[in-house]
Amino acid sequence: MYHSAVYEEPLLRELEEKRAEQDARTAGLPRSLQRTAPPHIPSLDETQVVRHFFHLSQMNYGIESGIYPLGSCTMKYNPKLCEEISRWEHFSLVHPYQDESTLQGTLQLMYDLEAALCDITGMNAFTLQPAAGAQGEFTGLLITRAFHEHHKEFHRDEIILPDTSHGTNPASAAMAGYKVIEIPSTAEGTVDLKVLKQTLSSRTACFMLTNPNTLGIFEAEILDIADLVHQAGALLYYDGANMNAIMGKARPGDMGFDIVHLNLHKTFATPHGGGGPGSGPVGVQSTLQRFLPVPRVIKKNTTYSFDYNYPDSIGKIKLTYGNVSALVKAYIYIRLMGGNGLTEASEVAVLNANYMKKKIIDSGLYTMPYAELRKHEFVISAERLHADKGIRALDIAKRLLDYGLHPPTIYFPLLVKEALMIEPTETEAKKTLDQYIDALLSIATEDPELVKSAPHHTTVRRIDEVSAIKNPLLTWNAIQQQ
Ligand SMILES: Cc1ncc(COP(=O)(O)O)c(C=O)c1O
Repeated sequence: MYHSAVYEEPLLRELEEKRAEQDARTAGLPRSLQRTAPPHIPSLDETQVVRHFFHLSQMNYGIESGIYPLGSCTMKYNPKLCEEISRWEHFSLVHPYQDESTLQGTLQLMYDLEAALCDITGMNAFTLQPAAGAQGEFTGLLITRAFHEHHKEFHRDEIILPDTSHGTNPASAAMAGYKVIEIPSTAEGTVDLKVLKQTLSSRTACFMLTNPNTLGIFEAEILDIADLVHQAGALLYYDGANMNAIMGKARPGDMGFDIVHLNLHKTFATPHGGGGPGSGPVGVQSTLQRFLPVPRVIKKNTTYSFDYNYPDSIGKIKLTYGNVSALVKAYIYIRLMGGNGLTEASEVAVLNANYMKKKIIDSGLYTMPYAELRKHEFVISAERLHADKGIRALDIAKRLLDYGLHPPTIYFPLLVKEALMIEPTETEAKKTLDQYIDALLSIATEDPELVKSAPHHTTVRRIDEVSAIKNPLLTWNAIQQQ
């Protein structure tokens, strides 16, 4: 079982005690190079700084510490070989603006990665520029606008999405200048075709959908959905955050989607958040190719180059060409896995989720609203525990930390009360899944006061979240003034 280290680790400012010594060390420099006043940073030696950050890292939790079943985020293990190759000087020491003839390897990798993503999704062309799923959504919606404006359909100003959708979907739509219309799901947790039909109109620019959706349920009526959307003259957008469920099994292009984003930092095992930059490539059908961001990577004979000659392009979406180190890692991952390997990854991801789901639901301690059949993730509810013992999803998440386990996503999707959204991924062993199931079941039968006051064994205990929001102390100076 994982227990984080516990240090009484002061802030760097509080570690400071060596100003005089360090200042003295500059004494050997010519006077013209010496500082006249100390810099406004803590004066520490290298050992102190390295130990400080090492201690902080030991009090942290990552995928290398243990299971990280953060639903919707696909926190799978990131293979070390991909990390290593991305650090090769051929990739890490190039400058984005050096002559293209000296960047042929990187350009070829980008070109081949685009082709691989087209194959996996059934789309016609990709841009690798967007730096995250959310930026991919924004890019896709700018393409949507460019498409409708090209056809003089300036009146299309609405984006429809289901109430299962991720918060970035409406946010991206609003950022792209659209009015957002949310429609309720059926009792089964899927798109309500009747409501969709009533909502679609000549004002609809696009319908955004995740499939499987954020409940982990596959939208089986997707072909009918696509027909309805296209009959209304709108586009169908695929939020590819859940692509890990269906690789090699189903392709958004074949389901009728016009635009797709992928999250390389989820499905294709590149690090997330603090572990590295994201990447949210966007794929389109051939009718939309002309609107993709520039530059596009092209190949003439055996030479690769950047092509800016796309007059209808929405322009540049990110500085240089995207987060290239993430592209390298994803490319290596795809090549290492191969087609069969990717298919197997999805199969095992779905198997792992359903194994956990069954054991947890069979216990009778948690409920699972909506349809039974789930793909790579499932959403359970702590509603019964809340009603009987006052234990909320938040309390369970905090108590899991005492078991040395990372909590799942909580309170999302919004339509499930006291939601715990679990996505184990394919990279966890059965023993780990059993350990997680046992922890969840054990927490449900513990003394409610113990659970409600958790965590008890972590470096930082439960914070007063209301005060943290109402009276945030975000800087060292603010803390000093307390
Ligand atoms: C379903 C879904 N859509 C979109 C996003 C946004 O992706 P990103 O975090 O890469 O911006 C997420 C992120 O978790 C997601 O789960």
